[in-house]
Amino acid sequence: MQVYLDNSATTKLDKRVLKKMYPYFSENYGNASSIHFMGEDANKALDEAKKEIGKILNCGQKNIIFTSGASEANNLIIKGIARANKEKRNTILVSEIEHSSVLAPVEQLGKEGFKIKYIPVDENGQIKMSEFEKMLDEKVLLVSVMTVNNEIGTIQDIKTISKLTHKKGALFHTDAVQAVPYLKLDINNSEIDFLSLSAHKFYGPKGVGLAYVNRKYKIFPIIDGGEQEYGIRSGTHNIPGIVGMAEALKLAYKEKTTHLKELRDYMWDRMKAEIPNINLNGDSRSRIPNNLNVRFESIEGEAIVIELSTKGICVGTGSACSSKKLRASHVLKAIGLKDEHLNSNVRFTLGKFNTKKEIDHTVDSLKKVVKRLRSFTSIKK
Ligand SMILES: Cc1ncc(COP(=O)(O)O)c(C=O)c1O
Repeated sequence: MQVYLDNSATTKLDKRVLKKMYPYFSENYGNASSIHFMGEDANKALDEAKKEIGKILNCGQKNIIFTSGASEANNLIIKGIARANKEKRNTILVSEIEHSSVLAPVEQLGKEGFKIKYIPVDENGQIKMSEFEKMLDEKVLLVSVMTVNNEIGTIQDIKTISKLTHKKGALFHTDAVQAVPYLKLDINNSEIDFLSLSAHKFYGPKGVGLAYVNRKYKIFPIIDGGEQEYGIRSGTHNIPGIVGMAEALKLAYKEKTTHLKELRDYMWDRMKAEIPNINLNGDSRSRIPNNLNVRFESIEGEAIVIELSTKGICVGTGSACSSKKLRASHVLKAIGLKDEHLNSNVRFTLGKFNTKKEIDHTVDSLKKVVKRLRSFTSIKK
């Protein structure tokens, strides 16, 4: 049996999404910038996708900028806003537990003369609000706090954070990649100025995403070239990808995900009862319903991932981007895990295609793997 429990890294493309995309690979392959009828067809598809996405996210469609994914969207928003407005203010606040595609551009801006400050989180991964408020002053240009953390699944109180940010006249960005399909995103009502998404995290295609950019604010592009996306993001539009992302987003909010929480809770109940010396990392309540990030006392998380993989089960040790690098998770460090516990963690992220049978198979296999690995260490239960 093959089991995929790494849905925060990427998801399986929904067949209905692929069906919508297919004609734009084959018959309707025009370039949306061409003025002939095939270009017009492509442009129409682009327009419809923007309209649909604008409706779902409750935002003006002219503020949606298509990108190659959330890494690009995060880079575009953070670098583009900072560089275009540096005469006004020069401090940027980001949470300690952001994805590397937020932390790296911010680090680069630090080298360019911006002052970067990191907002601390508590043991659940929640922003420490009182400290955040103290850090907010009239020098802050931009605040970036993710809606949901990709490693531990913690959900932030984005509405409060954006309100506090605006009170001090700063701008607010949220990386909402891991929020879909679990949380409704309402850009206008949540006072979000900038937001990033990646289609492959919600059963859409890889290599396409979006930056919501309130175009009331000046932004510099990071790619120079053509005039696509109002000159903010040059490059021929990925029409099959864009059509697929719109369809995936529509399906994401049409279909209920309640069974996922039941499956996840069932998995955790069985693990707690049947595997000794394990702990859940992160917030047990304010957490998306598909995430379990678990510490296995006295074993390397990576050893578990590799052993499960040989049994046909895919899980992760943390974020997809850092899991191939042998370095401890900055997220688990930030929530206070001790050094000796930093490499003992496994992330299980369920998806809409998982079944109870698959979960049972995973827990049964996990029990054997943990027992075997622990037989080499001091814990032998
Ligand atoms: C929270 C978060 N932000 C950004 C990204 C980057 O997305 P992509 O690799 O699709 O550009 C990821 C991917 O894992 C993520 O989890």
